[in-house]
Amino acid sequence: MEKFKAFRVHTIGDKPVCRFEQLTMDEIDDGPVVIKVAYSAITYKDAMAARGVGRNVRTDRPCVTGVDLSGTVVQSADARFKAGDRVAVTNYQLGTMHDGAYADYARVPAEWVVPLPDTLSLFDAMVLGTSGLTAALAIDRLQKAGLKPEDGPVAISGATGGVGSLAINMLANIGYEVVAISGKPEQSDYLKNIGASKIILRDDFMRDSAPMVSGAYLAAALDNVGGQFLDRLCANVKPYGKVAIAGMVHVDTHMTVLPFVLRSVDILGINVSRQLQMPERKRLWNRMGADLKPTKSDVIAKVIPFEDLDRTMDSFFNISTVGRVVVEVTEQAQR
Ligand SMILES: NC(=O)c1ccc[n+]([C@@H]2O[C@H](COP(=O)([O-])OP(=O)(O)OC[C@H]3O[C@@H](n4cnc5c(N)ncnc54)[C@H](OP(=O)(O)O)[C@@H]3O)[C@@H](O)[C@H]2O)c1
Repeated sequence: MEKFKAFRVHTIGDKPVCRFEQLTMDEIDDGPVVIKVAYSAITYKDAMAARGVGRNVRTDRPCVTGVDLSGTVVQSADARFKAGDRVAVTNYQLGTMHDGAYADYARVPAEWVVPLPDTLSLFDAMVLGTSGLTAALAIDRLQKAGLKPEDGPVAISGATGGVGSLAINMLANIGYEVVAISGKPEQSDYLKNIGASKIILRDDFMRDSAPMVSGAYLAAALDNVGGQFLDRLCANVKPYGKVAIAGMVHVDTHMTVLPFVLRSVDILGINVSRQLQMPERKRLWNRMGADLKPTKSDVIAKVIPFEDLDRTMDSFFNISTVGRVVVEVTEQAQR
């Protein structure tokens, strides 16, 4: 049987040990849809799995990690897919409880598979991945809550991250004025290049601790950080503003109710895990191939070869990552 390359996490003596291995098809988890993986990505969740942070990966047996993949169906026992279909899988249990994206092949349940719109290449799909879907869902929900470009600026926290970068670019492309809030002063040119019209440094933004900031001018915000950031964003949003929460860099927060009660601010929770139903996923992927298609993929995505995977993981813990890290799993993958 043909052998192929895979990156697996073993738990040895309570510690994660990652290594590249040669596996056969019957050594990866079974599933009716067999996909030849073209591209994957690295997210914080992948870095956690590789380094044993938060125990988000199975420990009873080795797991091929990688929570995002794009590729081509080579075989399907499910009538919804056929050989040659271009598809993406993001999240569910991929790369944590079920063998994932960091291998030449993945075998997955049909319920996890999204057909890609013709307007997205396999490479485009992984510039987006979980981060793009999160940004798209947040924008979609803000719009459904009534947000329009003429309402005023939209702030994005964790601006240089995967979700932040894609949200900035998507919002700017559909006519919104975007304020990027970032802890990286050296990335100001990057943030302007992808669509931010104003940049506020994280420490400056956090300095004012008033329950409601006077002269608040933000129409909305997307919080990719959480914790006290959420409190500060809500304090800076004007009456009838909206705040979408996606990030959980910090989980706990101490907040005042005043922005909600006195300014009628709305909070929207964003979750792209398995709770996001397939019709909604497909609709958002179609939007990502149309009006929300990123225009700065070459700037937002850093592409790394498969063999650089392990050594790139740690950049997610020291916050040095900018944009998306796309992994070229199959050497000849077309962009
Ligand atoms: N809700 C969902 O369904 C969903 C889906 C995917 C991801 N997420 C979560 O959304 C968040 C963003 O994801 P991502 O993929 O964009 O992550 P990422 O690429 O690691 O970016 C996170 C960004 O947050 C900022 N940041 C990091 N540590 C910070 C700290 N200690 N204090 C303040 N800011 C900090 C940094 O941006 P700056 O340096 O520019 O400030 C960093 O680039 C993560 O918490 C992730 O777990 C949620």
